[in-house]
Amino acid sequence: MAALGLGPAQIESALTAASLAPSVHNSQPWRFRVRRDRVELHPDPSRKLAATDPEDRELRLSCGAALFNLRLALQSMGVRPLVSMLPGPDAPGALAVVRRGGTMKPDDESRALLDAIPRRRTNRRPFLEAAVDPRQRHALVRAAELERSWLHVVTTPEDRALLKRFVQQAHEIQLGDQGVQAELAAFTGDRPGATDGIPPASAGIRPELQDEWAFRDFHGPRRHPGKDYESDPLVVVLCSFYDGPLGDLQAGQAMQRVLLTATTHGLSASFLSQPVEVRRVREELRRSLGGMLVPQTVLRLGFSTPVPPTPRRSVAELLIASEEPAPL
Ligand SMILES: Cc1cc2nc3c(=O)[nH]c(=O)nc-3n(C[C@H](O)[C@H](O)[C@H](O)COP(=O)(O)O)c2cc1C
Repeated sequence: MAALGLGPAQIESALTAASLAPSVHNSQPWRFRVRRDRVELHPDPSRKLAATDPEDRELRLSCGAALFNLRLALQSMGVRPLVSMLPGPDAPGALAVVRRGGTMKPDDESRALLDAIPRRRTNRRPFLEAAVDPRQRHALVRAAELERSWLHVVTTPEDRALLKRFVQQAHEIQLGDQGVQAELAAFTGDRPGATDGIPPASAGIRPELQDEWAFRDFHGPRRHPGKDYESDPLVVVLCSFYDGPLGDLQAGQAMQRVLLTATTHGLSASFLSQPVEVRRVREELRRSLGGMLVPQTVLRLGFSTPVPPTPRRSVAELLIASEEPAPL
């Protein structure tokens, strides 16, 4: 499995880093084909979520996040990653191909982001009543910009009320959608030995009707009296500049740079994806942002207590054998 001038152990370590990316329901919808001159990133069609993510948009966001981790890991090994996104006939079915574009020494920022990969987690617990300071907010905005994306920070009470309404509307639509609920159930709860999904320890507390934001219910424990969500989290909408697979992949990389940057600042993050998953609500959200930006994911950020990691499939399971046809 030697590739890009690196030995098998280094390639395995780079793919392990890639696999620690976040993904919808921890579905880990990625696979890799390793050749001497390249690493190909493919979607895993067996891990699509047809009801929750009918256009595979979140699948590509997740794969974009894995690609960002892979880039960081290769940089730390001295490889300057040359990335072709949606390479077409060059690698049929691949979302991206990474080649060796020369050598490089990673800077301090890349090292800090790489170190943050195993520490980053989705934290669904209530956050502390402490505000994210402007310097940290600026770092998150810059992280999205560096990956050619846009972070819309929800600041005004009107924006906040509108977004909350979109979350609520979409949440209710999804509650009534049996397909969405079945996919959620398939990845939630106590599943001994599972290498995917969201275990009870990562589920956060059970959402309740009076909560300000409608959180998805991953069957966490009922809360103790007084254990409510924070009153004023930082809420941001990560956007791409264009619609379609390329915008999704770009946004996935930006999402991961934002999440890792947050981790380096001691911030926790969780997602509020309902309004971007329900097409009708997503269009309304898009219009509310001026019509040009494409909303890709909604994040809640703040300070919290540590949460345990979620499981991952082994690298061996993620590899496409060279003779196997590419999964289209
Ligand atoms: C595109 C995308 C959308 C997500 N949407 C939600 C969501 O709406 N609610 C939620 O609690 N978690 C959401 N997640 C978080 C995943 O469930 C989480 O990444 C996965 O369980 C792996 O856990 P980890 O992030 O702690 O590694 C989303 C993740 C991604 C990448």
